[in-house]
Formats: sequence, C-alpha cells, structure tokens
Amino acid sequence: MKTHQATHRFGWRKLFLFLVLIAAGAWPAQAADKKKIIVGFSQIGAESGWRTANTESIKSEAARRGLELKFADAQQKQENQIKALRSFIAQGVDVIAFSPVVVTGWEPVLREIKKAGIPVVLSDRAVDVTDDSLYVTFIGSDFVEEGRRAAVWLAKAADGKAVIAELVGTPGSAPAIDRKKGFEEVMAKHPGMKIAKSQSGDFTRAKGKEVMESFLKSPDAKQINALFAHNDDMALGAIQAMDEAGVKPGKDILIVSIDGVRGAFEAMAAGKLNCTVECNPLIGPQLFDAVEAIMAKKKLPKRTAVEEGVYEMSQAAAELPKRKY
Ligand code: AHR
Repeated sequence: MKTHQATHRFGWRKLFLFLVLIAAGAWPAQAADKKKIIVGFSQIGAESGWRTANTESIKSEAARRGLELKFADAQQKQENQIKALRSFIAQGVDVIAFSPVVVTGWEPVLREIKKAGIPVVLSDRAVDVTDDSLYVTFIGSDFVEEGRRAAVWLAKAADGKAVIAELVGTPGSAPAIDRKKGFEEVMAKHPGMKIAKSQSGDFTRAKGKEVMESFLKSPDAKQINALFAHNDDMALGAIQAMDEAGVKPGKDILIVSIDGVRGAFEAMAAGKLNCTVECNPLIGPQLFDAVEAIMAKKKLPKRTAVEEGVYEMSQAAAELPKRKY
C-alpha cells in the first residue's frame, strides 16, 4: 500500500523520464561533468608578507569554489618549481598555474606541459619565452608602473634632488627587473636624483636589514638621503638597520617601497616609512576565474592587470584598519 502511494506521489511521468535518461546514458554524463577541477599550483616560497597573503588568497579561493588544489612551495628555487610542474604533468591535473621565481629558463618545461595538453596560467610574475602559446594567460601587476610610481613620489618629496640607496628584489625576477626599469625611467627626467648604492636584498626582511647595515657602514653613507626598496619587507628590515645605527628612518632618509602590506602601514603610522606603492597579492579570485573560463573553453585575454594605488604616511592611520593583508 505504502509503496503504491509513494509511486503515485513520484508520478508515473517523472519515473518514465528518469528511466529514459538512464537508458540514453545522460545521467552518468551529467555526473561526470561535475567532476572536480584539479589545479596544480607552484608557489615561489614564503619570502615576504606579500607572498604569504598571496598563498592564502589562492588556497582559500580554491577551497571556496570546491576545486582541488595541489599546492607546491618551491622555497625560492627554480629547480624545485620545475620539479613541481613535471609532477603536475604526471598527476594529470586539469590546469597548471605558477608564479615563476625568475623570468628565464622555462621554455623546455612549458613545452612538456603543452605536449601533455595542459593549459598554463601565469600568476603574479611573467616569463621570458619566445613562444607565447606556451601559456594561456598572465594575471599580475604592472611592475614597471609600480617602479614609476615610486620614483614619481620620491621626485616630488625630495624636490628632484636625492642620493638614493636601492634594495633590489630577487636577481632575475620580473618585479626586480621591471621595478628598476620603471624607477630609472622617471629618474632620467630628474638629473638631481642618482642611485648611489644598489644591491639585492632578495625580497626578504633579513637580507634587507643586512644590506642596509653595509650601506650605512660605507664611507659615503652620510650622503644617502633616500631609500627605494623593491618591496616592503626589505624596507622594514632596512628601517631596523637605521634604528640600530641611530639614523632616523622616514626623516634622515626618505623611504619608498612597494607592496602595501600591513607592516608598511604600521611603519608609516609610526613615522618611519614615507610611502608604499600598492602591489595587490589577493589575486586568488581572478586566478580561478581564469581556470574556470579555460575549463569552459572560453577565450581569455593574454594579460589581466591588477588594480593598485599609492599610499603616503598621512593616509596610514585611516587606511590601516581597512588593510586585508
Ligand atoms: O612578485 C611580487 C613580489 O614578490 C612582491 O613585491 C614581493 O614582496 C614578493 O616577494
């Protein structure tokens, strides 16, 4: 009796349609469509506050969308990234994304990925390749423009006259090359500005401190009145070195850096950093929009830029509570 009522409620027409779908094989096909997208992501490492925020954005967005993320941390080494990319091929992921530590040396592994038919998304940093069909799209900041913005700010603040110490990012990396290029492009219009010292601090706070200490010990240290750091972490390390050497950061030496991490806003609020040019690490949503578009066979632009601003000391207190990284 119960069975009869249930069958009646379900409706004979629906039951018939259901049986037809099973017979036509449409049911398993629909289920197969819902298969989880698997993305292999090779991250550079955890060298800066920016990178930590970038990793968090990628992991949380993948989880929010229910995608499977195979995440590999390369600890700053290109060879580790290449190994991770090869392992993603072996695992047969749907899409490979990575943030290349340096710009050169990727062509062979990218060709292997192409041969395996796996689409590639470049995240945060670009690569130098002769064949741009080796990746589908690049999502990241305009590092040249960030360098220009830093120089424009400094030229104005120092009235076109500055003896600059430069803390360069990882040698051979896109942000180090491009930020320097953009900065020097603007400097060329200000003959009173010159870079007196320039050395890599590898985008880390510890190395930034170490290099600034050596700058401050050099015989011509007293002439330095400005610092351009390619990222906030190196600037924060340099501020520590200045504090310890009895030099007033933000006053004796004007400081401009790039990223806009919370620590930079705190240093600005404390009067020790003058300006940070934003480089937005929260690109997880844009990255996975691209992944899903690729899976849906949609066409993507070769380059997607990220929106960013410039913040001065005077804005720090109001901005600080709003910062998400
Ligand atoms: O590629 C982005 C840069 O890499 C950020 O400016 C820096 O902090 C990071 O390490």
